[in-house]
Amino acid sequence: MIKIINHFLRLLLKVFPEYTFKYLTARIYRVIGYKSISSKARIFSSVKILGEVEVVIGEDTFIGANTFIGGGNCKISIGKNCDISSNVQIIGGTHEIDVLGDRIAGKGYSEDIIIGDGVWICAGAKILGGVTIGEKAIIAAGSVVNKDVESYTVVGGVPAKLIRKLK
Ligand SMILES: CC(C)(COP(=O)(O)OP(=O)(O)OC[C@H]1O[C@@H](n2cnc3c(N)ncnc32)[C@H](O)[C@@H]1OP(=O)(O)O)[C@@H](O)C(=O)NCCC(=O)NCCS
Repeated sequence: MIKIINHFLRLLLKVFPEYTFKYLTARIYRVIGYKSISSKARIFSSVKILGEVEVVIGEDTFIGANTFIGGGNCKISIGKNCDISSNVQIIGGTHEIDVLGDRIAGKGYSEDIIIGDGVWICAGAKILGGVTIGEKAIIAAGSVVNKDVESYTVVGGVPAKLIRKLK
């Protein structure tokens, strides 16, 4: 029964215009089971949160249209006062490389992602599993972040490298 209700709630999110219902979407995801999302977070209805992942989102954090948060059995923690732009992907899951098996994408596994308070992740960036982003860091548009990012720094590119320090 709970699964059916959750499917219905996800369906409801799909019919909302994609740039709307920021507070309602946060509350809907809490009902779906992501209970550590602050009811004071602002999440556009087109944001997708998927999987067994434990998602923490702090208060007054904004998450823009079509952003994806998911992975397998890991924790994705986003602090308070963060700005996550549109089309960002925060993906905790990956696969072991299996040279001897039938498929090269071998056994799946996940690693936690920790995003500190006040971080700004610009449009289209990708944050991979195992990464910690320090407070008030900026991730430039289109970056792929595969290593930890220090607080008060701007990083950018594929893979993301230091652009400048802010302090
Ligand atoms: C991260 C950002 C804010 C940095 O701005 P900035 O500090 O003013 O940076 P600058 O334009 O002075 O560029 C500094 C260096 O970073 C590089 N850089 C800037 N943006 C970059 C990006 N997205 N990827 C890779 N490198 C980037 C510049 O080429 C420049 O390198 P150089 O010194 O070798 O020439 C900006 O580049 C950005 O990505 N904005 C995205 C805005 C966005 O997503 N808006 C959606 C609404 S939130």
